[in-house]
Amino acid sequence: MKGRAPARETAGGAPAAVEDERGGGQDRGVAEASITLSDDVHAPTPAVRGEGQPLQDGEPVFEVRGLDFYYGAFKALRDVDLAIGRQRITALIGPSGCGKSTFLRCLNRMNDLIPGTRVDGYIGYHGQDLYGDSVDPIEVRRRIGMVFQKPNPFPKSIYDNVAFGPRVNGRKKDLDDLVERSLRQAALWDEVKDKLKQSAFSLSGGQQQRLCIARAVAVQPEVILMDEPCSALDPIATIRIEELMCELKEDYTIVIVTHNMQQAARVSDVTAFFTAEVDDNGSRTGVLVETDTTNAIFTSPKDQRTDDYITGRFG
Ligand SMILES: Nc1ncnc2c1ncn2[C@@H]1O[C@H](COP(=O)(O)OP(=O)(O)OP(=O)(O)O)[C@@H](O)[C@H]1O
Ligand SMILES: [Mg+2]
Repeated sequence: MKGRAPARETAGGAPAAVEDERGGGQDRGVAEASITLSDDVHAPTPAVRGEGQPLQDGEPVFEVRGLDFYYGAFKALRDVDLAIGRQRITALIGPSGCGKSTFLRCLNRMNDLIPGTRVDGYIGYHGQDLYGDSVDPIEVRRRIGMVFQKPNPFPKSIYDNVAFGPRVNGRKKDLDDLVERSLRQAALWDEVKDKLKQSAFSLSGGQQQRLCIARAVAVQPEVILMDEPCSALDPIATIRIEELMCELKEDYTIVIVTHNMQQAARVSDVTAFFTAEVDDNGSRTGVLVETDTTNAIFTSPKDQRTDDYITGRFG
């Protein structure tokens, strides 16, 4: 049974999402925050993993049902059903253009910033309709942080990048401690502790990406969405970020888009494979083919399309 909610137009007129990739949206996001989501998201949920439920412990953080997504008249995603488990790393894989980034941005309402987009279907976040009338998208983006493909530090010092979100949230006390803790969580503290006042742009690409992760965790989100966070990094920086993800999983729920099969296999617990279906008019719509434990997806996928993709026969 599908819980299909009525179609909703997302807000137009706001600055485009690309601004958020430069950090502007995060500025805005934190600045206008007000709580409208229920506050008990960190409450523990009972472990109910059993036969047939290998993908999550307890209630899922996200429950996506019958999700369609449109850019204007173009349908980019069709009928996506996916549950995302707490303190798991869920990898979204699939060929270019199949809607992975679009889907990821649906999870923190980042697509709202793109004029003319529309969401149809249901995304539950701890059982609450993420697109419900009473939900503040700004607060959603504070709870559900995002790290982009290209590191996007603000043109500020290392310290001020990390302190930015907490400051805008009104935090004045213990900022030094929070900055240090966030940089430690992002495995960057030792490399920057003696140059916190230097520009973030003085850091290497891999360090900038870890700084962006520190900035994301500084506002104490519950979920971190990562859209190809390592694609601009060298193999050593990539491994650092992957190790970091595995550490962050202790505290956060992570959803990562990656084109790197090895990366998905190394870091994720659950993998969702998307592909694009082509209709008679040649229009391509993203669909979710299958979701399973990462081990199952890479060793015994149920769908031939998944098998073709992971073995390199397609995509
Ligand atoms: N802002 C936008 N306006 C209109 N169409 C868009 C927009 N962003 C993405 N699309 C279209 O939606 C479809 C899905 O794009 P999306 O970026 O989500 O794919 P993807 O799976 O992340 O691809 P890649 O692996 O190349 O990053 C594509 O056909 C794309 O052209
Ligand atoms: Mg993408």
